[in-house]
Amino acid sequence: MNILVVGGGGREHAIIKKLKENPTVETIFALPGNGGIARDAVCVPIGATDVDGIVRFAKEKDIDYAVVAPDDPLVLGCVDALEAIGVPCFGPRANAAIIEGSKVFSKKLMKKYGIPTAAYETFAEIDRALAYLDTVSAPIVVKADGLALGKGVIIAQTREEAKQAVTDMMRDGKFGKSGEHIVIEEFLTGPEVSVLSFTDGDAVVPMVSSMDHKRAGDNDTGLNTGGMGTVAPNPYYTEAVAQECMETIFLPTIRAMKAEGRTFKGCLYFGLMITEKGPKVIEYNCRFGDPETQVVLPLLKTDLLTIMQAVTNGTLKDVQVEFANSHAACVIMASQGYPVSYKKGYEMTIPADVWPHVYVAGAKEQEGKLLTNGGRVLGVTAVAQTLQEALNQSYEMVGRIHFDNAFYRHDIGARALKAGEK
Ligand code: AMP
Ligand code: GLY
Repeated sequence: MNILVVGGGGREHAIIKKLKENPTVETIFALPGNGGIARDAVCVPIGATDVDGIVRFAKEKDIDYAVVAPDDPLVLGCVDALEAIGVPCFGPRANAAIIEGSKVFSKKLMKKYGIPTAAYETFAEIDRALAYLDTVSAPIVVKADGLALGKGVIIAQTREEAKQAVTDMMRDGKFGKSGEHIVIEEFLTGPEVSVLSFTDGDAVVPMVSSMDHKRAGDNDTGLNTGGMGTVAPNPYYTEAVAQECMETIFLPTIRAMKAEGRTFKGCLYFGLMITEKGPKVIEYNCRFGDPETQVVLPLLKTDLLTIMQAVTNGTLKDVQVEFANSHAACVIMASQGYPVSYKKGYEMTIPADVWPHVYVAGAKEQEGKLLTNGGRVLGVTAVAQTLQEALNQSYEMVGRIHFDNAFYRHDIGARALKAGEK
């Protein structure tokens, strides 16, 4: 089979490495991929949001199956466009990807179907939004409606800060069209858990839970990033919580999407907060998380392509999806200055025995050398019987990878270890 994977980050590298385990897979094309992914797939310089280019390529190469991994092409209708030329796909159509593409949509969906989430109001006019802020107390959560590269959520510690965020979004167009509508919501507290799930629109199969580390610095200091490391499973996601989530969140969401005529097929990501009043939805993503995928897929025992095709065909209930009873840890190595400004083009050295554990996020190949080409450069995942052992192995490998100006967090998994001891 010839497979096309749209995207070019660590998540896509993890998906590609897993797909390659299936012996029927001949060639995997990554659009655009990156210099590291090029070791495992044929990278083609077609951007992930160039839907016309992707469709043209799929036609030309007789692609048998496509996986659309990032949010933007999903929201733009890349799956719809590929299906229209007869290419079966993994990923939701645009009318279902809206669950991530519009926070106003997802909040209204949750309210209509009684799915637990933070209380909220939505606004299309700045004056009403500012007036509303005078009636609530801090901290206040302000969210841009649309996709904003993971930066559209402001946790304001004061009312003034919240007003500034609203003004930035609604008057000054900080996030472009994404900020024309906003959500203002209640601040929730509790441990966060990421649960990715496979769903064909009827059955929903949660994957092993995970924990992201969003802040750039140790002890959760510094700016929010795309994620500096992950561990799986997440100790806060107990059997009891899992069962409650299935009953109050996962199944109701899948059914709600179907009832709305927006059947969701693909990977639905539930960003959850385990509050004192039970688990609540913080956000939905219409895709695999990054860097959650880099710890979840290494624990998957069932063949990934088989599951994906069952999702496409609507036969997920017939597949036994199994995860290893082990622990995984992924440490992200970034370039100094990320997430604000950073230099690119540093030569990377990665020992051969470490390569199988590496998921490259930002690199390019030049004259046979691998050079850094992004803020987040790569992730290193280890799987072991205990979380401590997985962390030890991951950090040991990180210590043997070199590029100038590299930085990483030293406390990935520390909170999970503590929670696990209780
Ligand atoms: P999101 O982009 O929706 O993932 O939000 C980014 C982060 O903001 C989440 O991972 C949470 O840590 C935090 N967050 C979002 N909404 C809330 C909320 N209602 N209460 C507290 N924290 C929140
Ligand atoms: N790691 C969070 C996300 O993929 O959105």
